[in-house]
Amino acid sequence: MEHVYINRIGEHVGEEVEIKGWLYNKRSSGKIQFLIIRDGTDMIQGVVVKSEVDPEVFEDARSLTQESSIVVRGVVREEERAPSGYELSVTDLDIVQIAEDYPITPKEHGVEYLMNNRHLWLRSQKQHAVMLIRNEVIKASREFFDNRDFVLIDAPILTPAACEGTTTLFETDYFDETAYLSQSGQLYMEAAAMAFGKVYCFGPTFRAEKSKTRRHLMEFWMIEPEVAYLDMEGNMKLQEEFVAYIIQKVLENRSKELEILERDTSKLEAVVPPFPRISYDEAVEILQKNGAEIKWGEDFGGGDETIIANHFDKPVFVHRYPTAIKAFYMKPDPERPEVVLGSDLLAPEGYGEIIGGGERISDPELLKQRMAEHDLPEDAYAWYLDLRRFGSVPHSGFGMGLERAIAWICGLPHLRETIPFARLINRIYP
Ligand code: 4AD
Ligand code: MG
Repeated sequence: MEHVYINRIGEHVGEEVEIKGWLYNKRSSGKIQFLIIRDGTDMIQGVVVKSEVDPEVFEDARSLTQESSIVVRGVVREEERAPSGYELSVTDLDIVQIAEDYPITPKEHGVEYLMNNRHLWLRSQKQHAVMLIRNEVIKASREFFDNRDFVLIDAPILTPAACEGTTTLFETDYFDETAYLSQSGQLYMEAAAMAFGKVYCFGPTFRAEKSKTRRHLMEFWMIEPEVAYLDMEGNMKLQEEFVAYIIQKVLENRSKELEILERDTSKLEAVVPPFPRISYDEAVEILQKNGAEIKWGEDFGGGDETIIANHFDKPVFVHRYPTAIKAFYMKPDPERPEVVLGSDLLAPEGYGEIIGGGERISDPELLKQRMAEHDLPEDAYAWYLDLRRFGSVPHSGFGMGLERAIAWICGLPHLRETIPFARLINRIYP
């Protein structure tokens, strides 16, 4: 008999098929048992009628516990009332294993308990939906850049120097040297952009964030394009087209998952270019008018970002931050060197900064000066300075935090559910 996956079961109406999976849930009304079976691709209700199957099959069905693994055979029927539109009239059943005392039951559990059982929690319907949306966001991101002739260039994970400040580095022995887990692939993408023109990397990045917030992971994934001969304006345009593309693909292909997550999709449908652009100066004004205690020159906290974003129903670019609070590589505005030609993209509804990026310094002397101001050792960055010696060109790029984007798209307040196995300040298990 043909083994079919539940998400494809509609191609087999009227046929007898075999599905291989696990028992998600079960109801019984004496002479009929309703098995909710999942196989990773979807769920389906299997109906076991006492008068229609062998007595052992009915007894086996009765013995099934939550998450027991089973191979089920039956006839596929259309069923309008079923969420998937189909139902299985069970004819036969093999038990692969009986699961005893599965720790996650349909009742409510605390978050710490669920995170301790993350390896099992991933099987739950809501977590399943989040991971499928994550998969869709990754797919759409790759597609967006591939369609535009960007080349995927992988950045190293073990690196000799910092990209985003020395305070959040994870350090490790590297034979007789010290290595750091990459905070960002950007510096390597700059080298790659000079070789290939338009590039991007997608990989894990690491930051020892010492504060405990709902927006910070120690290990998160970033998608980082870098483009030669691109300025800040072009960089923002690329970002809004990119973000709108991802949202469009999720709306198109993952509407069922968004519904499971009870996401208000009208908020996502509004995300079409152009996105509003405000300067840091204007953002500070908005904050001060709203009673936030912030002075020009200070960085925004999560609460500040929410106040700014709440003024818009699309993501908003905040550009030209003070040079003093941004990374060493950001290009100061030639007209006003106290601010940089960089931008952050803040998601609506209080999900915070999802993208950081901007134009990079292309002048070797200025770059050296900025590195000295940041106390960065020139020898470790000699190769990076080379990029400014041999055919330096204006160039820009950005990094989108995958988990931040997913939290926003799914409507999840905390990043911990957006990644299969979150690394948090107090958690490296499981
Ligand atoms: O703003 P960031 O620090 O920028 C960079 O790393 C640049 N080098 C990227 C580039 O231009 N190629 O980080 C970029 C994004 C943030 O906007 C945020 O979405 C995410 O990465 N991010 C984090 N996400 C989860 N946990 C953390 N600890 C994060 N830190 C940054
Ligand atoms: Mg940033």
